[in-house]
Amino acid sequence: MIYQGETLSVTLMDNGIAELCFNAPGSVNKLDGAALLTLEAAITALEKTESIKGLLVTSAKDAFIVGADITEFLDKFALPDSELASWLGRANSIFNRMEDLPFPTVSLVRGYALGGGCECILATDFRLGDASARIGLPETKLGIMPGFGGTVRLPRLLGADTAMEWITTGRDHKADECLKLGILDGVVDTTKLRDAGIKLLQDTGLHHWQGRRRQKTSPLTLSKTEAAMSFATAKGMVAAKAGPHYPAPIMAVNTIEAAAGMSRDAALLVEQENFITLTRTTAARALVGLFLNDKLVKSKAKKAAKSATATERMAVLGAGIMGGGIACQAAVKGISAVMKDINNEALQLGMDEAGKRLNQQLERNKIDGKQLARVLSDIRPTLSYDELSGMDLVVEAVVENPGIKAKVLAETEQKVDENTVIASNTSTIPISELAKSLTHPERFCGMHFFNPVHLMPLVEVIRGEHTSDDTINQVVACAAAMGKTPIVVNDCPGFFVNRVLFPYFFGFNRLLADGADIAEIDKIMERRFGWPMGPAQLLDVVGMDTAHHAADVMAQGFPDRMQQSGSTAIDLLFKQKLLGQKNGHGFYCWQQDKKGRLQKTDNPQAQALLQQSFGQTNSFEADDIIARMMVPMVNEVVRCLEENIIASPAEADMALIYGLGFPPFRGGVFRWLDTIGLNEYLAMADHHAGLGPLYQISDRLRHMAQHNQTFY
Ligand code: COA
Repeated sequence: MIYQGETLSVTLMDNGIAELCFNAPGSVNKLDGAALLTLEAAITALEKTESIKGLLVTSAKDAFIVGADITEFLDKFALPDSELASWLGRANSIFNRMEDLPFPTVSLVRGYALGGGCECILATDFRLGDASARIGLPETKLGIMPGFGGTVRLPRLLGADTAMEWITTGRDHKADECLKLGILDGVVDTTKLRDAGIKLLQDTGLHHWQGRRRQKTSPLTLSKTEAAMSFATAKGMVAAKAGPHYPAPIMAVNTIEAAAGMSRDAALLVEQENFITLTRTTAARALVGLFLNDKLVKSKAKKAAKSATATERMAVLGAGIMGGGIACQAAVKGISAVMKDINNEALQLGMDEAGKRLNQQLERNKIDGKQLARVLSDIRPTLSYDELSGMDLVVEAVVENPGIKAKVLAETEQKVDENTVIASNTSTIPISELAKSLTHPERFCGMHFFNPVHLMPLVEVIRGEHTSDDTINQVVACAAAMGKTPIVVNDCPGFFVNRVLFPYFFGFNRLLADGADIAEIDKIMERRFGWPMGPAQLLDVVGMDTAHHAADVMAQGFPDRMQQSGSTAIDLLFKQKLLGQKNGHGFYCWQQDKKGRLQKTDNPQAQALLQQSFGQTNSFEADDIIARMMVPMVNEVVRCLEENIIASPAEADMALIYGLGFPPFRGGVFRWLDTIGLNEYLAMADHHAGLGPLYQISDRLRHMAQHNQTFY
């Protein structure tokens, strides 16, 4: 034994080859403060030991190293520049010393080598992996960039173009791709990996390990013309893809460009300086915050699943787009699903919906023909309630009408087993209302999927007045087993997501009534605020009939602030059957292009209708549009936290991001409020207080602002 630390050990074998094996006490190896210190001590021990012939760098866990410890990041980002520089400098000196050891080095990669893990293997001369190896530099997804030499070594090893592609997308790469690109020198069977590493070290005379080092520590070999072409192309692509709200990818390209003519140590200083700049951005704090929030939400789901009954057989009532989507998602994840409707045509539609989705996956090579057949055979269409016996869970997804739902739920309860849990996929109707039709409301809750089911990550699990903990745990566990992120919320009209979405739509109605332009609002909310689509387009996707109905439910549920006076834009379009994408005409006109994708153009009919009804056109400042749209949503989100509809700011922010596509670089409503400051927000809201109760700030929020409190 050369060295034994808390997170790794170094041993020396009889053949003179040493092995540095990462084996942290937790579930994964990560480069936290403790791991870096032990690595430093291990390198010192290796430097001091004579007669070592080579070094294997390995991991005792299934994943090699998952990166720097993200849970330490927000504290790190708050450090002054000098302390951040000394952290980065120290980590880099460790990897430089590893790279400069006086004998050849090989990393053996199983599973993930991400971020700092990837930077660690880049510091060795050679890299071998097995088929499970997944290598990447995901830092830009967290709003930062590699800081332990990734922007220096990767371009020198793989070329600037490939390195920029890896770093700006943040994707990880499978073993065969890594071999093709040259980051892995070989891919071998897991059982042979170690021997292959030893053999490589014993044969290094043939492999020019010093040449490898020179390549990684010298300037990039690019002619002036090549460099100009390469960096200009990368900048163009990054600007188009990442856009102005995500500064990290372009900073990474600029860093590689600025350091292209430098050798290792000077290039590392450029990386360090630019890394520090990125830690000061609000995007970095928001994106790291999302990782932490996601961890919290997942750990809650894991805890619930521990004590839950597993769902192996599920039935879905109603074979519409949602029912078909839910049944298909369940079957894809290995839960067999019965799909019940009242006539064969409806069942056929549900099966067609599932078939459409699976065929798309087949075309994209995500599944093969066998898997497609397996999934389809796991969905059993039926007209009979008798098939519901033996089910662990029945999800009701019939039309959004309280009377019909109540009838279907009552009939269902007669047919299911004693222990079967029933869940409703209603998007707005209070669960405790629907539960009145049941004799066992404790075995009933909401399970609100979002459309399209296979793409939208969120499932709201709604606890009714009488819902039992066992019921909630089972439905949470089932949603997680279906590959979704479940978030438990308490009951009210619209639950959490729709309750906060509709005030935003009401802000939109009001802006249109005051003469704002449809496309202008969408442009500002997309480009300036960062929503994936503006409110008009979103309403066209949702459908004006659905939105009109849900707006009514919300107005009845919260008449004090959500009752709209006169006909709103949504009412007007609904009455004129301008339903949106579903019939080709809404706020926009929708037509398929040659590739079958829907494209929008202005709809003069909608514009004329609004002009005729509201009789004015007005232009608004971008900040005004943002405030008038966002304040109603933010106020409602705050109310939901105050009323315990949602348990924490972290869960609220994740529900907004996973359910509505709230701009990730803002981190969610609560992270956004913390970022801009509550006083700034209050000024924005108070300026528009005359617009009505949706714009009124709660007393508690005002109190928090007075005391400079934050949500995180
Ligand atoms: N820092 C801190 N913790 C990390 C981590 C990191 N970089 N990467 C993973 N973890 C933790 C997870 O939070 C989880 O913790 P838990 O057991 O307490 O819940 C555990 O490691 C396992 O991760 P999980 O996400 O549940 O496993 P997975 O197999 O689904 O995914 C990864 C594994 C590595 C793909 C995924 O965790 C990931 O993408 N991590 C971030 C990697 C990254 O960005 N690294 C660069 C940092 S600069």
